Amino acid sequence: MKTELTVNERSLTLCRFPKRSNETLQAWDAGDEYLINHVESMGLDKGQHILIINDSFGALSCYFSPYHQVTMMSDSFISQQGAKANLKQNQSKSIEFLTTMDELPSKVDLVLLQLPKSNRHLTWILTQLRQGLNANVPIIAVNKAKEIHTSTLKLFEQYLGATTTSLAWKKHRLVFSCANQTAPKQAEIYSEWAVDKQNYSLKNRANVYSGDSLDLGARFILEHLPQDPTLSDFIDLGCGNGVLSIKMGQLNPQAHITCVDESFMAVQSAKENLIAALGDKRKIACVANNCLDGFQAETSSMVICNPPFHQQQAITDHIAWQMFCDAKHVLKQGGKLLVIGNRHLGYDVKLVRLFGKTQVKKVAQNKKFVILQATK
Ligand SMILES: C[S@@+](CC[C@H](N)C(=O)[O-])C[C@H]1O[C@@H](n2cnc3c(N)ncnc32)[C@H](O)[C@@H]1O
Repeated sequence: MKTELTVNERSLTLCRFPKRSNETLQAWDAGDEYLINHVESMGLDKGQHILIINDSFGALSCYFSPYHQVTMMSDSFISQQGAKANLKQNQSKSIEFLTTMDELPSKVDLVLLQLPKSNRHLTWILTQLRQGLNANVPIIAVNKAKEIHTSTLKLFEQYLGATTTSLAWKKHRLVFSCANQTAPKQAEIYSEWAVDKQNYSLKNRANVYSGDSLDLGARFILEHLPQDPTLSDFIDLGCGNGVLSIKMGQLNPQAHITCVDESFMAVQSAKENLIAALGDKRKIACVANNCLDGFQAETSSMVICNPPFHQQQAITDHIAWQMFCDAKHVLKQGGKLLVIGNRHLGYDVKLVRLFGKTQVKKVAQNKKFVILQATK
């Protein structure tokens, strides 16, 4: 796997996070190189304040931090950890980290933006930029050319201001804009909907997984969550909007709830939804983290998990595997891991490998999904 990015006679060593010995994917792409080359051609004075939004693993932050004041803003805990590791590896100058829950910094000279996957997330970012920036601050976004549609550019025009694009280079394109729309559309902070067949509704911030409708896997596992008056606690690993922990919390009113997600918006949405549905007297902890990194061994009675099958743009099962390994580590003896997945993903094989054949049972299945329980 290539880990050296050489651009403009500078070399950076860049790895994805978490670092894996058998990694097949690079920590940057041609879009980063296109942005770097373009910004170099602008001939910026040193010491400019560059706001970098959605820097995947910190390639842009590492490149610009030696000569400029860099603020990296991201909804991803993993991107932030990746950037921190890469900044250290390259002995780069330290930068400021902001999450999507923070205000935009003041006095920004230039914004670089990796376009997010969903239009809801994009319009939320554009609204923040329109509200927080002066019209003379250049905003340069990048993505694969095939992902930049006429409708994407229309969103820039409607929510932010005048917008043009570059020619394509290595299948990527730049989008140039500035915050000068005089009658901007405003993105809603939340999308809110009632959960089918349940007595609660969910408010979803812009980058929450399945924020516009109930995930089909979640819909199925909601019917099979356990009720156990002796259950002292559970962890909702990859909690999203908290849809599973609310139902688990209703079924098990005595249980202490821990929600974990790598998206800051998901963690905040889960917190808000749990408090709205279960009240503010419940013992609830909502944490942004990479799986269960840093959690103590043998401390939890149950982990429930609807694992992700992609990291940023890449389809992968390594996060599911890490989640299962971490759950086993954190569970007490006799503790249970409850997992929902598409039948074709083969989670049963992974769980049997980890927990042993006799410790894994099928709780339920339908045409698309299977629910598995592994006991430590
Ligand atoms: C399939 S969604 C499940 C969301 C919700 N529990 C549900 O059932 O609708 C998987 C979730 O895992 C989160 N996630 C992805 N990678 C993660 C990681 N390394 N650590 C913690 N959470 C992660 C995603 O942000 C996403 O919210």
